[in-house]
Amino acid sequence: MPLFMGIDVGTTGSKVLLVDEEGRVVASHTTEYPLYTPRVGWTEQHPGDWWSATVASIRAVMKKAGARPEDVEGVGLTGQMHGLVMLDRELRVIRPAILWNDQRTGEEAEYINRSLGDRIIEITGNIAHTGFTAPKLLWVKRHEPESFARMWKFVLPKDYVGLRLTGEVRTDVNDASGTSLFDVKGRRWSMELVEELGVPADALPEVLESPEVRGEVTAQAAEETGLRKGTPVVAGAGDQGAAGVGAGVVEEGVVSVNIGTSGVVFTHSDSYRYDPRGRLHAFCHAVPGAWHLMGVMLSAGGSLRWFRDRLGQLERAAAELLGADPYDILTREAEQVPPGSEGLIFLPYLAGERTPHADPHARGVFFGLSLKHGRQHMVRAILEGVCYGLRDSLELMRELRIEPRRVRVLGGGARSLLWRQILADVFACNVYTMEVDEGSSFGAAILASVGTRAYATVRDAVRAMVREREEVRFNPQSSAIYEEYYRVYRALYPALKELFKK
Ligand code: XUL
Repeated sequence: MPLFMGIDVGTTGSKVLLVDEEGRVVASHTTEYPLYTPRVGWTEQHPGDWWSATVASIRAVMKKAGARPEDVEGVGLTGQMHGLVMLDRELRVIRPAILWNDQRTGEEAEYINRSLGDRIIEITGNIAHTGFTAPKLLWVKRHEPESFARMWKFVLPKDYVGLRLTGEVRTDVNDASGTSLFDVKGRRWSMELVEELGVPADALPEVLESPEVRGEVTAQAAEETGLRKGTPVVAGAGDQGAAGVGAGVVEEGVVSVNIGTSGVVFTHSDSYRYDPRGRLHAFCHAVPGAWHLMGVMLSAGGSLRWFRDRLGQLERAAAELLGADPYDILTREAEQVPPGSEGLIFLPYLAGERTPHADPHARGVFFGLSLKHGRQHMVRAILEGVCYGLRDSLELMRELRIEPRRVRVLGGGARSLLWRQILADVFACNVYTMEVDEGSSFGAAILASVGTRAYATVRDAVRAMVREREEVRFNPQSSAIYEEYYRVYRALYPALKELFKK
């Protein structure tokens, strides 16, 4: 049976998934690794840990599936984006990888945005965020000049696993888009930025389109992983680009909404467009010749988890007594309250925000509390506030003339029917769940099926492997109510912006 393997080098662990040609999941396995915080706000990992965990996950998944090495036709890679892995001439790792959520590079990011002005957004489709790669390179150059001088190449996290699998130092256009060094329109490194920021041009890895083959499994990697020597490994994509492929977002008008700890609104674009203020991310898509736009909200599922953990003692106790999930009890409470939570609005900025307000000072707010409100209103207001925040990203896409025709919802939050209904009503369109909700690893496996020619294009592969499961129809009456509340929600952040800072 021909199988495709997706490897997701995530922040908490390495997940390996095996799917067949029709996109059915055969087996999956995750092996975790530590995250180091040597100082407040710093986050690092050892690339060697990514490799050992990936080896363990590959072996475990092959065993679970009862698959033979020759069954695996191809491997696709995905992973956490933006992380900096520095390699010396012997391909040894110079220092621990600095991760996407590391906050040490605020000054460097500000320097890039200030000195390059509009150019950085025009060329890369984004402002330079603190978590992006170029600020990390500037930080190492300033604080660890000997490490910087030893750097022969740098790569992104999944590419280190790619190197261990194939011996080749390569990356792909989607992941490269998150470095602040990439010409996103031209799909190549920007020599202008590389020169301006003083990054040695030789250090840039070769870039491929996501479904292109980056190399073959070497004899040594075959021995370690149990994969067949010569198995093709495709370039793959960053975790969001791959997740977009897994959700079938490979044509204009299709939008995916992922409600995990963070919330991601993701869409496809046939042409290069970007928000002139850099509020949305614009990256090369894992679909050759296409781009994607993305809004990232920091506390989506995280807002409900905050309530469960900090204020939900009652629900947690009831859940334990009944052998139920505390989230189910919370959403059942929220069902008692009508749309709009009788005038209670929640701003979900518990950890600051990225889209649409890139503001680390923003904070959560319950607005409009009155004597009639109880905890069930607060829970519903959280579900609604998260959906208003997601709608903000959708509106930014509309400003760029992308009209959503089909909205797909994934992630932990998509398991709640109530939350799906609220999303449909706030967006005023029907939303769909997906048959496979395995995130980025599924998209990576799909890309492998294209690179190995099982399918001619990413779109063909998606047609054969990605299916919707269930429809939630929006309710026009509720939508009309939410429309009014959304207007108030939109007005709250500008009114509070300066106060948050104080
Ligand atoms: C994308 C982003 C995250 C990381 C980690 O811009 O910051 O998706 O890739 O998951």
